[in-house]
Amino acid sequence: MSSLHIETTPSIEFPKGWKRRHLLDLESLTAEEITILLDTAQKLKSLTNNCKTKVPLLTGKTCANLFFENSTRTRNSFSLAAKRLGADTVEFSSSGSSVAKGETFVDTAKTIEAMGVDWVVTRHSTPGTPHLLSRELGCSVLNAGDGPHDHPTQGLLDMLTIRQHRGSIKGLTVALVGDIAHSRTARSNIWGLSKLGAHVIICGPPTLVSPRWTELGFEVAHHLDDILPRCDVLNLLRIQFERQKARPFPSVHEYAALYAMNGERMKKAKNDILIMAPGPINRGVEITPEVADGPHSVILEQVNNGIAVRMAALWLLAGAQQSN
Ligand code: CP
Repeated sequence: MSSLHIETTPSIEFPKGWKRRHLLDLESLTAEEITILLDTAQKLKSLTNNCKTKVPLLTGKTCANLFFENSTRTRNSFSLAAKRLGADTVEFSSSGSSVAKGETFVDTAKTIEAMGVDWVVTRHSTPGTPHLLSRELGCSVLNAGDGPHDHPTQGLLDMLTIRQHRGSIKGLTVALVGDIAHSRTARSNIWGLSKLGAHVIICGPPTLVSPRWTELGFEVAHHLDDILPRCDVLNLLRIQFERQKARPFPSVHEYAALYAMNGERMKKAKNDILIMAPGPINRGVEITPEVADGPHSVILEQVNNGIAVRMAALWLLAGAQQSN
């Protein structure tokens, strides 16, 4: 006789402090809201056996991915996050769509929403486009990267990875190194980490780091070797050649000599330093293969945590939709 298998919905309590229907940036979130997102991500990661199995918390709902820029990590992990929680997904890419016939960004988003979706996840090269959609659409909007402005789920997955290794963000020294001027990941990390009590160092060539960061109270450095021994975490940002209007340094070789994390620099770092990168990585530019694939690298853990924070974001926004 076969044994009886009863499927039950795993229990997870909705946090009282969560009210938001959209996730547009980290700058406007409070430390409490960021902590709720991280705690929820950790719980969902555990409920889904490290983001590998399904739990039916969002069955019957649909998530639309509206990507107007390339993506490997963010797009696929939003899609997996929705599916892990039992939701359906719609995948939209601007290439091959009616955008080529002149349809506007907002009309495209409204068209996809009219198909009956609960969340629109959007990536666009223009800063502020998710904020625009949050005013135009009735469903929840999640920012998957808007130009150089913000990439909130990237900041969250970076913080979740740090927290898993160190228990807490508070009091850590975290350096963001590289192309700060064009990096939405940098901005999300700067706001998120500082709200949770980290000491943030913004490091890169003067042509890629605005002096305004100092006025906002952040430490700015132009020499990685000067700050390296103090750092608990290094987040190595890609040089975003596609966003630069002029070359901000004489050569990639010179950039790598001054800022690439390599085996020699690892000798000057703390023994337990965490090496992070949002990806995609340019091997040999901001990081050498021996460091990217070495024992201090948590780059692939960051990718796995991307599913966890995106599950948390989808679930929290859906809960807020119901209670509003
Ligand atoms: N980190 C990040 O946003 O990667 P993708 O561009 O591959 O989504």
